[in-house]
Amino acid sequence: MSTETPAANAQQVLQEAARRRTFAVISHPDAGKSTLTEALALHAHAIQSAGAVHGKGGRKGVTSDWMELERDRGISVTSAALQFGHRDHVMNLVDTPGHADFSEDTYRVLSAVDCAIMLVDAAKGLEEQTRKLFSVCRHRGVPVITFINKWDRRGREALELLDDIQNILEITPVPQVWPVGAAGNLRGLVEAANTEQMLRYTRVPGGTHAAEEELLDFGRAAAEEGETWETALEELELALDSGPGWDPQAFREGKITPVFFGSALTNIGVRLLLDAVVDLAPSPGARELVNGGAREVTDEFSGVVFKIQANMDPAHRDRIAFIRVCSGVFERGMNVTRAASGRSLATKYAHTVFGAERTVADICYPGDVVGLINATALRVGDTLYVGKKAEFPPLPAFAPEHFAVARPKDISRSKQFRKGISQLDEEGVVQVLVSDRRGDQAPVLAAVGPMQFDVVLHRMEHEFSSPIALDHLPYSLARVTDAEGAATLDRSRLVTGEALTRRSDGALLALFADKWQLNSFVRGNPDVYLETLIATA
Ligand code: G4P
Repeated sequence: MSTETPAANAQQVLQEAARRRTFAVISHPDAGKSTLTEALALHAHAIQSAGAVHGKGGRKGVTSDWMELERDRGISVTSAALQFGHRDHVMNLVDTPGHADFSEDTYRVLSAVDCAIMLVDAAKGLEEQTRKLFSVCRHRGVPVITFINKWDRRGREALELLDDIQNILEITPVPQVWPVGAAGNLRGLVEAANTEQMLRYTRVPGGTHAAEEELLDFGRAAAEEGETWETALEELELALDSGPGWDPQAFREGKITPVFFGSALTNIGVRLLLDAVVDLAPSPGARELVNGGAREVTDEFSGVVFKIQANMDPAHRDRIAFIRVCSGVFERGMNVTRAASGRSLATKYAHTVFGAERTVADICYPGDVVGLINATALRVGDTLYVGKKAEFPPLPAFAPEHFAVARPKDISRSKQFRKGISQLDEEGVVQVLVSDRRGDQAPVLAAVGPMQFDVVLHRMEHEFSSPIALDHLPYSLARVTDAEGAATLDRSRLVTGEALTRRSDGALLALFADKWQLNSFVRGNPDVYLETLIATA
């Protein structure tokens, strides 16, 4: 059977793929991701007024508030994909969980996008989570567009922020727009491509509707904005002169990042950002396969599971596997094959997910996100395909830094305990490690951020009816090793038996208390195989 979709169809798939922009917003909590998401969707006329995306402050929430934990902490635990139109393009905004500790989940989401918007708070600059997420984008080759937000209030100097991007992230910022007025005194914007005019904005109270935009020619801008206008032009020139200039290839290779300024809250600069996603971000392209070669977008359907979410809707107790379509056409009801098992799977219950509301997904193209409900066989990282086999490389596992032994509080519920732990493992909520010493009745849970443990505690009690206790272990580093390495470690007596573990995918993981312990072992045993998992710092 040919892998290609029939010729007439192939043309259509190409056209549809070319119209798709699949992207995520990466930022540190509070930088304004939810506000920006609302503003983007507002500009794209997906929703009538801002406030529909985020559940904060009693507004209608699109991001489902399915967990009490989420409400208690005021954070977004769920992940949803938002689809909207802009300039004849289909925008797929894949939401990333917002909390600093939900790292592993967030990182995986980035495997589903072709571009990321890095949102930076003008006053706080490059914060920790932003830097970590940026490093994941770099690692995965995801190009990054920078949006410096909150320019409506006092913040740092624009040039200084660009220096930080250059020096800390080692990527060259190339401004596409420049703010007219310092942070806190935002008058408008000037585009690098046309410094003969200024976009002046009138702030709308509350920012619930797009800010009024007025186009001033050079003469009026100079006369009415005076020194502020001149300063903006001088600074923009300075910033452009010191850099290599705009180069689409360098952007796609992650060497440069186009920079935008604005204010999500007052809807300033958001349209230009949205235009940039259409004009600069890549459309879905061919994807490398695990055994070499690539799946072209015009080949038959293939997709990758990048997230599994349980109980999004408490009324239904369901489990949704989110799939990013990589090639071909997804049609609801089609039979697809799961690469890992070779088993076929019916896709009757397919939905595109718009926050808490579900729309039945009948046809999806490369770049789109489909939610498959109750597809219990699916795991994060799975490839699904039709026709010729496709298998995409596994998603990276990030280096856990927090470890705890899990025990059921009520041993008569050990069946529920095992079921819950294995489900959370499959969803990728935590990595589950088993040591010979403790056995699988007392698995070691490994997390990138400690809050992942809170999710486990909560879900084990409320969802799997097996409350657990967690005993934290004094390790902070994990390395993948081989059987020989494990034996050497065991003999060295440097680590105890419980520090030699096997992850559910079969990988042997050695745990170390700290880098001094690790370094001392490496010095004594330089030939032992110890592979660093992907670090996020
Ligand atoms: P997050 O999803 O990244 O965590 O951030 P979120 O959008 O919730 O924004 C965090 C805070 O920053 C919010 O204020 C929001 O109103 C504010 N904010 C976002 N963008 C801008 C901006 O462009 N300018 C200004 N001045 N503020 C901005 P809050 O008072 O903490 O929350 P809320 O009660 O207003 O929702």
